[in-house]
Parts: sequence; structure tokens; C-alpha cells
Amino acid sequence: MPIINYYLCANNRLSAPGCQQKEMGMQTKIENPKSSTDFDALLRRKAQSINYILERILASQQIDGELKDALKYSIGTPGKRIRSLLVLWCCELVAGRVNHDAELAAAAIEMVHTYSLIHDDLPAMDNDDVRRGVPTCHKAFDEATAILTGDALLTLAFEILAKGIEEPATALRLIGQLAHDAGPAGMIGGQMADLKAEKSEGTKELLEYIHVNKTAKMFRCAAAMGAICGGAAKKPFDRLCEYGLKIGLGFQITDDILDVSASSEQLGKTAGKDVRAAKCTYPAVVGMDKAMKLQMKLTDEAITLLKPFGKKADTLRQLAMALLQRTK
Ligand code: IPE
Ligand code: IPE
Ligand code: MG
Ligand code: MG
Ligand code: MG
Repeated sequence: MPIINYYLCANNRLSAPGCQQKEMGMQTKIENPKSSTDFDALLRRKAQSINYILERILASQQIDGELKDALKYSIGTPGKRIRSLLVLWCCELVAGRVNHDAELAAAAIEMVHTYSLIHDDLPAMDNDDVRRGVPTCHKAFDEATAILTGDALLTLAFEILAKGIEEPATALRLIGQLAHDAGPAGMIGGQMADLKAEKSEGTKELLEYIHVNKTAKMFRCAAAMGAICGGAAKKPFDRLCEYGLKIGLGFQITDDILDVSASSEQLGKTAGKDVRAAKCTYPAVVGMDKAMKLQMKLTDEAITLLKPFGKKADTLRQLAMALLQRTK
């Protein structure tokens, strides 16, 4: 089963997830896109390289007992590693290659992301039993261990940046960016609003606030961290941030859509939970059709932002399309 079911029809029109028959128009074009199998293989290979980096970092830490087991369990269970890939590819775009700083930043953002999932699944939050195809951390261990495992990943992320990035000014920028986008004016703020909005009459404004903060800002952060590691000037930096924000918002809309249209087996997490918890989601507030059109528009806009980078940005273009088409 491919991680991401990416395909572009011959006339450059797409079928959207959950609505495979329905074709919608896209404004942007990708010249000579890699085939779905090739891009899927690239994503797998790159995700595997992130897994090695994470394994190495964890193995180098002096952590014992159940905490070490829970950390290995949570970080070792393969996720898609999309935020990490975004760091690497934004660095590559700007600097022509992936450097050591980008690898550390990729590991750091994945740690923060994994922590956010462990806490998101807790009974006090979304109360989920399955994550990445296995029992959630609090089910495999216990609630206290899950809380502390999340805390450990969050703090470790900042430690590896503080100690591992050679240039102090770069370290400081990366730490500031991650702290901001994962913090109260970013992911935490969005998560809080998401919980408060349950069972409420959701508005489009509230919905956008929740999704931009809980998810899109971590994507912006990944793009920003990659650009910082690559030494981007202000203009390309701003463009990549904007690209990250747009694909990030699209990513959460897809997550909402897949919660309705995909199976738990496919997702590796419980499907249909958003409706049961009366979550403020795009399908619930604006409907499936509008949600899919918005995904498409955001992808178009994200790809348009990459124009000044020319062919060098093809991987990021394909990533945007792949995320639009993902089925898990
Ligand atoms: C899940 O993120 C949480 C959301 C922001 C929708 P991912 O879908 O990237 O989860 P993993 O890392 O692949 O498990
Ligand atoms: C979670 O959004 C976003 C995070 C910041 C973790 P969801 O609650 O929709 O993510 P899933 O569906 O549980 O992965
Ligand atoms: Mg949630
Ligand atoms: Mg959840
Ligand atoms: Mg969800």
C-alpha cells in the first residue's frame, strides 16, 4: 500500500481523496512530474533516513527504563515524517544540498510533532486508542508515562538544537522559530481552540484559526527551519514560510476529510472520531465539496509561490500535490 497515492491525470486534472471519480481543475501545472511510484519511493527512502537520524539521537541519550521504552516506541513507530522532509527539502532548495543543521532540525521538528500526537491522543484530549497503526502511548504504557514521554520529546528537541547546531545565531533562530510555532501562538493555541470548539456551532473563522494554528504553523515552521539551515535570504524565506502555511492548512483539511472517508486500517488511527466528538472540521462546517475545493485552491497557491525558484523547486511542487492526494 503506497504511503501517498499521488497521481496526476494526463490533462493535469486531479481526483480528490474520497471522491476519486470527480475531477476538478487546477490552475498550476507541473512539467514532467515523477510517477506516483517514483515519488512514493522517494518519500519512503527519505522517511527512512529520518528514522535513522532519530534512532541515532535517541541511542546517544542517557535515558533508562520505561521512559526509554516509551520514547523508542513513540518515535520508532513510523509516521510519514512529512514535516522533517519539508525541512530537508527547503534546505536543499536554498543551499543546493541537505546539511547537518537541517538533519538536526528535521529530527527536532519530528520530536515536537510526535509529542503533540502523544498528548493529542490522551483521554483528556481526543481520547484515541490507536496511532500509527499501534496502540497509543498511554494505552501501551500508562497515562503518566505518555505525558512524560511527550514532555521528554519536547525538551529533547530543544536540547539537540542548542547543543548540535554549530553557529549560535542559527541555533537561536531555529529554537525561536520552533518555540513560537509549537507554542501558545501556534500549535498549543490551536489545540486549545480545537478542544473548546467541540460541540459548538463552528464558524469558518474559528475553523481557520484552529487549523492554521494546530497544524499549518508546524508546516510553516518546518519550511522556515529548512530555509534557515540553508541560509535563505529574506524573500525566499518568506515565500517558503507562506508555502508551508498553505500546504499545512491543506494537510489538516485532508486529515478532516480522511477521518470521514477512509478506514481506520488505512489511516492507522481511528476513523470517524471527529463526528463522534462533534469536532469543528472542514467537512462538518463547510461540507465535503467546499472542503475539497479549498484543498485544491491552497495547493494551487502553494505551487504558485514556488515560481521564482524555477525547476529547483520541483520536489516541493510534487510534495504539495502528493499531500493533496494522500490516502493515509
Ligand atoms: C497527524 O499528523 C496530525 C495532524 C496534524 C493531522 P500526520 O498525519 O503527519 O501523522 P504521522 O506523523 O504521519 O503519524
Ligand atoms: C491534531 O489534529 C493536530 C495536532 C497538533 C496533534 P487531529 O486531532 O485531527 O489529529 P489526529 O486526527 O488525531 O491525527
Ligand atoms: Mg486533536
Ligand atoms: Mg486527534
Ligand atoms: Mg484528525
